[in-house]
Amino acid sequence: MRILVIGGGAREHALCHALSLDPAVSELHCAPGNAGTAELATPHPVDAENGAEVAALAARVAADLVVVGPEAPLVAGVADAVRAAGIPAFGPSAEAARIEGSKAFAKEVMAAAAVPTARAYVCTTAEEADEALDAFGPPYVVKDDGLAAGKGVVVTEDLERARAHARTCRRVVIEEFLDGPEVSLFAVTDGETVVPLQPAQDFKRAHDGDEGPNTGGMGAYSPLPWADPKLTDEILETVLRPTVEEMRRRGTPFSGLLYAGLALTSRGLRVVEFNARFGDPETQAVLARLRTPLAGLLRAAATGELAEFPPLRWSEGAAVTVVIAAEGYPAAPRTGDPIEGLDEVAEHDAPGAYVLHAGTRRDDEGRVVSAGGRVLSVTATGPGLAEARARAYRAVARVRLDGSHHRTDIAAGASDAAADTPSSPQSPTIG
Ligand code: AMP
Ligand code: GLY
Repeated sequence: MRILVIGGGAREHALCHALSLDPAVSELHCAPGNAGTAELATPHPVDAENGAEVAALAARVAADLVVVGPEAPLVAGVADAVRAAGIPAFGPSAEAARIEGSKAFAKEVMAAAAVPTARAYVCTTAEEADEALDAFGPPYVVKDDGLAAGKGVVVTEDLERARAHARTCRRVVIEEFLDGPEVSLFAVTDGETVVPLQPAQDFKRAHDGDEGPNTGGMGAYSPLPWADPKLTDEILETVLRPTVEEMRRRGTPFSGLLYAGLALTSRGLRVVEFNARFGDPETQAVLARLRTPLAGLLRAAATGELAEFPPLRWSEGAAVTVVIAAEGYPAAPRTGDPIEGLDEVAEHDAPGAYVLHAGTRRDDEGRVVSAGGRVLSVTATGPGLAEARARAYRAVARVRLDGSHHRTDIAAGASDAAADTPSSPQSPTIG
């Protein structure tokens, strides 16, 4: 199977990594990719949001499957363009990707499908926004309706900040604050059959102890030793299946990866958001544990054959990923700094740890330099969370990037909880 992966973040590096381990994959291409994917997949320059360009590239490399990683190309209709060229694509149509592209649309789908989520108002004027803020009270949750690369959501006690953010949005969703731990659950679907992966937890805030601004995600781990073993089934029945069913009923079936971000509140689980693609950095931790070869799974979803696909196999162990971010991330990341120590990770921490590249490129002298806010996603597996976490942080310590920062508490609470009380039903509030 010849596969073309579209995108250039750590998620795409993780996808390329998993696909490269699948014996069914004969050729791997990644466009535009980064310095890390280039080690596994033939790189091609491409405007990832230009459907005609991506479809032409897919035809040129005779791809049997195109996997579209990020949301912007999906919302722009890149998967549609590839399918129109007669090539199977893993990823939803532009219409179905609206479940991520418009938070108001996602709310509408959830209401129709009776999926539990935060109560919300969709506002288009400052007066409406003020009324909604007043109705809910603090903490305020203010979301830009459209795609905002992880920067569209403000959660604050400060009314003036909430109002100011609402005023920067053309359309804004203001909703009830949800407390409790957050969980990310991904499902692969062909529009009918829904196959959940294993849950993970992301760490959205920039600094330790969940301080600082929201980011695209600073680290993740899987599995969740503190979670109820029935959690995945509950999310499948109350969230994923009804949503996929509702999208089909509307005539805009969702195929690809449906990402449910959830809060486990004292009143039950609630959807915080849907995404139309693999999450970053959770994918790095989840795919590290998937034993089923990935290419066949993604192709079965792309070709409508998931119903016949055998049950997924998982490693019993754990995986942890820690994001190394550039100085100034998320507000104003500095780029162009050389990254050193990558070879040391490979030599000293293998096979437990490896580095997935996010914002990196090779400069004119062939050195790997930073090229984005989230620069690397250092990933490690182990028999349990404590070991995976220790390996990941040993590897992080070997990487040198001037001015970089990372969280030191990824999976810390969960790993302690797992060690102290293996079957504790209590969910620590982490992430
Ligand atoms: P979103 O892009 O909708 O996932 O929001 C980004 C982050 O903001 C989430 O992962 C949560 O940590 C936080 N958040 C979003 N919605 C809520 C909510 N209703 N209550 C509390 N926190 C929220
Ligand atoms: N980890 C959050 C996201 O991918 O949106």
